[in-house]
Amino acid sequence: MKQTKCVFLLALSLLMSLTLGMVTFAAEWKTGAEPNQNRWWYDYQDGTYARDGWFWLDGNQDGTAECYYFDSEGWMLANTTTPDGYQVNENGAWVENGVVMTQIPEPAQGNQLIVYFSRTGTTERAAQRIHQLTGAAMVKIQAAEDYPSSYDATLSRAQRELDSRARPAVTTVVDNMEQYSVIYVGYPIWFGTAPMPVFTFLENYDWNGKTIVPFCTSGSSGAAASVQDIRRSCPNSNVIEGQRVNDVSGIEGWLAGAGLIR
Ligand SMILES: Cc1cc2nc3c(=O)[nH]c(=O)nc-3n(C[C@H](O)[C@H](O)[C@H](O)COP(=O)(O)O)c2cc1C
Repeated sequence: MKQTKCVFLLALSLLMSLTLGMVTFAAEWKTGAEPNQNRWWYDYQDGTYARDGWFWLDGNQDGTAECYYFDSEGWMLANTTTPDGYQVNENGAWVENGVVMTQIPEPAQGNQLIVYFSRTGTTERAAQRIHQLTGAAMVKIQAAEDYPSSYDATLSRAQRELDSRARPAVTTVVDNMEQYSVIYVGYPIWFGTAPMPVFTFLENYDWNGKTIVPFCTSGSSGAAASVQDIRRSCPNSNVIEGQRVNDVSGIEGWLAGAGLIR
């Protein structure tokens, strides 16, 4: 089953490379090197991998995710009982009474939240489009000290903050984060990653078991490096591949493809 997934994902990423005229990296299932050639792991293709708990993964992109358990080294458990007492079948999928458990994200569920940072409104427009399509609640991440209106002054402050890995104070608080299971995290790309206040916000919460959907806008940079940084700031969460959404007309297709709306 997973070999089919791998072939499919490879074909998909090749197709996307040709279509977009750029190289794209899709997350994929992999087997270990000898003597672990029969053991599976899930490579996000950005230097990180699924590990230490449960992950809902839609490996074959059919809009339905199955739930897999990975140990602390990143090996998928198969045909066994997980440390927290659930059964996984020979493919690693969580089963109850022999039935594979699946997850089809519902549109407009009350358990989705959009948090975003935006200095000049581009990311905010994308957040509003996601809100229209999903009905998710929206919260803007606000730095305690506003960024200057001058572009150059913002550049130098942002550069200083990035260089020192600063965590500038934010005034935004979500009291009931535990009620959300899917959190869209939006931001402009600043020097290749998300602005530091986004990490301040993220590092204030427990993301265990939650799905994080990163989206960004930028002059030209892609989302990959920022997604890698978000994974570091949100341990034990399922951070799906990020999307650059400068063109809001592409958001509906992206969300549908990721199984987040029907
Ligand atoms: C401090 C700063 C750094 C930026 N760094 C990048 C970058 O590394 N790559 C890029 O493509 N665009 C970069 N940009 C452009 C922004 O990502 C882009 O204009 C974004 O859409 C702005 O979103 P906003 O209107 O929501 O603030 C940068 C802009 C600023 C202000």
